[in-house]
Amino acid sequence: MNYSPDDIVLLDRGNDTSVVVHLHGATIISWRCAGEEMLFLSKHAIFDNLKAIRGGIPIVFPKFGPWKYGPQHGFARVLRWKLEMPPKKDKHGNVFAVFVLEDNDLSRAMWNIMFKLVYTIRLEESALHVDFSVHNTDKITFGFNCLLHNYLLTPEITRSGIIGLQNLNYKDKVKSEEDTERKEEVFIRENVDRIYNDAPNEIVIGNMAGNRTLMLKTFNFPDIVVWNPWKDKARNMIDLGDQDYRKFVCLEAGRVTHDAILKPGQSFECSQIIAAIIAVL
Ligand code: BG6
Repeated sequence: MNYSPDDIVLLDRGNDTSVVVHLHGATIISWRCAGEEMLFLSKHAIFDNLKAIRGGIPIVFPKFGPWKYGPQHGFARVLRWKLEMPPKKDKHGNVFAVFVLEDNDLSRAMWNIMFKLVYTIRLEESALHVDFSVHNTDKITFGFNCLLHNYLLTPEITRSGIIGLQNLNYKDKVKSEEDTERKEEVFIRENVDRIYNDAPNEIVIGNMAGNRTLMLKTFNFPDIVVWNPWKDKARNMIDLGDQDYRKFVCLEAGRVTHDAILKPGQSFECSQIIAAIIAVL
């Protein structure tokens, strides 16, 4: 990968269990769990500290999707974050690190608001836990979206079924219509781009990397976005290989349908845990 070592923070738990964070966007670009990589990172990802990194876990804030004031999905994934607390081990052997982004000239040029984002990563034996908080350090009330754009690695997308979405209403961005999910297990076999509302806080996806089932547990993230560009759209993406769409499912935890609102001095907190469970046959 063509990134500079100065841009990288490593959380190493031993036993080939680690997380790599790129300071551009505080993007987690690798999570290895007992020797298995669990996240997809495109071989064509562009590390120019300008473009959003294609893969891992980019952070979407303050806007999900196209944005009239700045880039798609906001600026948090394309600004440089500060390492507030370097990686540290607790008594259980879990490794923590804290990253911060505060408003600066670049953010204020798009969104003239004072804020502080705090991103805490905790690497456990077989789970990746992140806490995301937004603090209103301004004198005015503001609204925002936030989302963790998880690119989960799969050996073969057509075999990775998602459980936990049945009966949820969703917005289908491909067909531009609203619908209700009928399926108990959702498989991706075409271009899918959906926002599921009022999602339960546990979603499971099977047949993932390392023969693992991943459980996504969320707190204060009412929406789940499921996205894969599929063949034709992938071909037009400069930072994705032609066959790469088969290797990931974007299962994203978000607050995107309704803005979160913060008054001056208030904070908003949300979290996700991705637990990697070894499938029992
Ligand atoms: C998803 C959106 O979250 O991200 C899609 O629902 C979008 O509409 C996708 O295409 C990728 O976005 P980007 O900006 O990283 O190419």
